[in-house]
Amino acid sequence: MCGIIGYVGKKNSVPYIIDGLKKLEYRGYDSAGISILQDGHLITVRAVGKVAELEKATLLANPQGQSGIGHTRWATHGKPCEENSHPHRDCSGDLVVVHNGIIENFLTLREKLSALGHKFKSETDTEVIAHLIEENLKTAPGQTNQERLFNAVRKTNGEISGAYAYGVLWAQTPDFLIGVKNQSPMVVGLGKNENFLASDVPAFLKHTNKVLFLEDGEMVTLTSKGVTLFGKDGQEKPFKPTKITWDQKTAEKGGYEHFMLKEIYDQPQAIEDTLRTAQTDFGKLVGLKMGDLRALQNVHIVACGTAYHAGLVAKYYIENFAGIPVTVDLASEYKYRTVPRTPHTLAVAVSQSGETADTIGAVRKAQELGFKTLAICNVLGSTITRVCDGTFYTHCGPEISVASTKAFTSQLTSLYVLALFLGKANGNISATVFNKLYKELLTLSKYMAETVKIEYDVRHITKKVYKAPHFLFLGRNVNFPIALEGALKLKEVSYRSAEGFAAGEIKHGPISIIEKGTPTIVLMPPDELFEKMLSACQECRARGAFVIAVTTQEGAQKAKDCIDKAIVVPYAGEFLQPILNVVALQFFAYWTAKRLGCDIDQPRNLAKSVTVE
Ligand code: F6R
Repeated sequence: MCGIIGYVGKKNSVPYIIDGLKKLEYRGYDSAGISILQDGHLITVRAVGKVAELEKATLLANPQGQSGIGHTRWATHGKPCEENSHPHRDCSGDLVVVHNGIIENFLTLREKLSALGHKFKSETDTEVIAHLIEENLKTAPGQTNQERLFNAVRKTNGEISGAYAYGVLWAQTPDFLIGVKNQSPMVVGLGKNENFLASDVPAFLKHTNKVLFLEDGEMVTLTSKGVTLFGKDGQEKPFKPTKITWDQKTAEKGGYEHFMLKEIYDQPQAIEDTLRTAQTDFGKLVGLKMGDLRALQNVHIVACGTAYHAGLVAKYYIENFAGIPVTVDLASEYKYRTVPRTPHTLAVAVSQSGETADTIGAVRKAQELGFKTLAICNVLGSTITRVCDGTFYTHCGPEISVASTKAFTSQLTSLYVLALFLGKANGNISATVFNKLYKELLTLSKYMAETVKIEYDVRHITKKVYKAPHFLFLGRNVNFPIALEGALKLKEVSYRSAEGFAAGEIKHGPISIIEKGTPTIVLMPPDELFEKMLSACQECRARGAFVIAVTTQEGAQKAKDCIDKAIVVPYAGEFLQPILNVVALQFFAYWTAKRLGCDIDQPRNLAKSVTVE
């Protein structure tokens, strides 16, 4: 968790850093801080709360300097308060560190450093890095201060353990920043006479789209004139920057009040972009051998949260189109349960960020078991894509809202493509059927463009129910995971209690929670289970539920005596329908939260990417 930004250049670094931190708030927002090198001294300003609080404090202190670093925090060690916010200083106050991740052996190091006379001011694990570098500087070899700092940081890396990315600024080395990466994200933006260090690209995308993605174990030094990359062995390493095609506008709100709303509307484009990259030579595209894909006998899907719900839908896709048995696990459970070492098994990790610690852990376990691994991921160069044998990228652009929307529908689209290619590869579906299904899939973004027009209707319906304390979501078959996702979305952004159920299950217990007016959202596409869903509506309504059906025009007509309201969506076919139905639930969550005055893009207690276990 946490966001890091560093700047070295010819201009005052403060606005770059504050702006970069605002772009990184999705990574954490309980406190923030900035350190600027001004006239040979470090000026540090820190504030509890969002970056706006830091901005106010920085305006008062008014530091000015061409090198600086900043941090936005999501607490892991030590409560959110000013002392625990970054940057953290060494004893002299001349050296500062911003850090993302966890230093696992920090207690041992802290004791050792305290015994050597170091004075700690915070409860964080980060502070040990600053003191350890200070200690190592005493003996670090080097002709210049830059060389000494580099060597002290390298030595420090050998002494700390855990998952971390950090940046260092030292008053003795003006126009010089060091970045380190080990299992937490760190990227470098290469500008003209200025360079950036950050946890993610949006932090500097306004200024440059040339990016260097660091690998685990690498270090980087930045000056205003250039960037030098060092491999695990400490030797200089050539690199070729990646050109990012997302422009800054794409990464910003584009005129919508919230990122979540913008991202719901991004979905037709996201699906189109995701499908654009799929091609006939699927094995080559994802970096796996076609022979391995053809021989598959088992698929294990691992993911967390919304991505897990995408995995649950994919089970229906893969079993239906490819006839391969699929298990779907919460990544945090997969890591710790006994997984049989089955032959010809592919583990598919679904992750928007590619940095979710639990999912990375599950991938590593699958690899230990000898399984091939495939990532369905949205972030180019992220950890999961580097750990897995192959990657099929979703192309939905940066997702800034903490609540995932466009990443989910892009994941479903990619998983649908995967299922079709697996089915074609193993002969479960013929080339003719494949072509027909693929052609249908290519119409999905058109259906999605129709579907997002339902916002007004959903908004209107939420007016009736938004004050309810508890909500139910019901679905069946391929729409059951969508009911789970609808409940998760509502919980996340509106803080209301919500549960999703398989409609057939309600009579086995959950129906007892229905009371007068309980909003019950029922996913009922016009398929063979429609009549059964109709019965579920009647059962709930008889107990006082306020039933809202998500269905087609025809479905709404047929169900009119058993429901209170209908959200009408287009029909794209049994297996594509979940991708449209979820849009109704995304708008439902958005408008409920908006009416309740919640912080939609940054709900309390949550962070966008969960990089700790
Ligand atoms: C919910 C949400 C989370 C994520 C989960 C996995 O809206 O965003 O449940 O889906 O934390 O994150 P990724 O996909 O980045 O691995």
